Amino acid sequence: MPENQMYLKMKALLRNVVPDVELRYKAGLAEQINVLKAEKNAVILGHNYMEPALYHSIPDFVGDSLYLARMAAKTEKDIIVFCGVKFMAETAKILNPTKTVLLPAAKAGCSLAESITAEDVRNLRKRFPGVPVVTYVNTYADVKAESDVCCTSGNAVAVVESLKSDTIIFLPDEYLAGNIARETGKHIIFPTLGAKGLEFDTSLDYQMVGWRGRCEVHEKFTVADIRSVREQFPDVVILSHPECSPEVVAASDFSGSTTAMIRYVEQSNAPHFLLLTECAMGDNIIAANPEKPMLRLCSVRCPHMNQITLEDTLKSLQLNQYVIEVPEPVRLRALKAVERMIAIS
Ligand code: 13P
Ligand code: SF4
Repeated sequence: MPENQMYLKMKALLRNVVPDVELRYKAGLAEQINVLKAEKNAVILGHNYMEPALYHSIPDFVGDSLYLARMAAKTEKDIIVFCGVKFMAETAKILNPTKTVLLPAAKAGCSLAESITAEDVRNLRKRFPGVPVVTYVNTYADVKAESDVCCTSGNAVAVVESLKSDTIIFLPDEYLAGNIARETGKHIIFPTLGAKGLEFDTSLDYQMVGWRGRCEVHEKFTVADIRSVREQFPDVVILSHPECSPEVVAASDFSGSTTAMIRYVEQSNAPHFLLLTECAMGDNIIAANPEKPMLRLCSVRCPHMNQITLEDTLKSLQLNQYVIEVPEPVRLRALKAVERMIAIS
């Protein structure tokens, strides 16, 4: 697409979201990226949290982490450029060992993925022998390798129910685990720091064992935020990501993966929407659905997703950076947990 056409396409969607001078500049970058993408036989996967100009220009597929994992599993291109965070790019590599997987920013991490190590999982297995381990896909490959099955926010309940086990270990998101426990009617216990390290009170009735990881973005939303918005807009429909606390999810009208939230807004005629999730997603919905009345509660951008820019995506294709590698013995074990998840959902 010539540069001018790219600018016009982006302007049609983004004129109320991105200033014109920025749009012209970003359309130029997007056009260069698309030319290189074709030359190098690459596919670009973009998470729903990408900033609006990127989200609406260069990805071949946009979606939540489950959909993007599925697209990564299916692609026949030589190079996968992942406009998302490291754990997502690693999942693409786990599924595609012979392809080059590129992450445009070396530091695009995730507070949940940082919250647990492979050794932590091994210790939990020793503490709860025979109990199956479900790990959220927001973990690094070595943690996935210690798990029985992965899940995303889009399929966590289905994965937990598929195990048909009296007890499960669900890692590492404290809030997602709490929300799944509530939805499936299970009681959950979490570790506390005692004299001998992490301790679990197994005298309680429990069917789930959790961990204390949190998303640094979603933990910021509170029930007080919800009350305040409902007072001002009594007819507002509030959607929260399941990485928000169980109290926030219970006080919301709907909770689901990023794509489930987008679909809900697209299909509903509510007079106002409030999204309790990363801010860029609200902008992306407004760009595609300008008639949707979206309220902003926008102090929160993910500092990791935020690292991915059009400039760095161009450099990524030009310089072949940053190449994601997963050691083969780890990849083979992690693959089982990821493939099992994809089969269930
Ligand atoms: P989704 O799987 O819902 O896209 O969520 C990924 C994520 O990192 C949310 O913070
Ligand atoms: Fe991780 Fe939260 Fe950022 Fe998602 S929004 S990538 S869970 S820190």
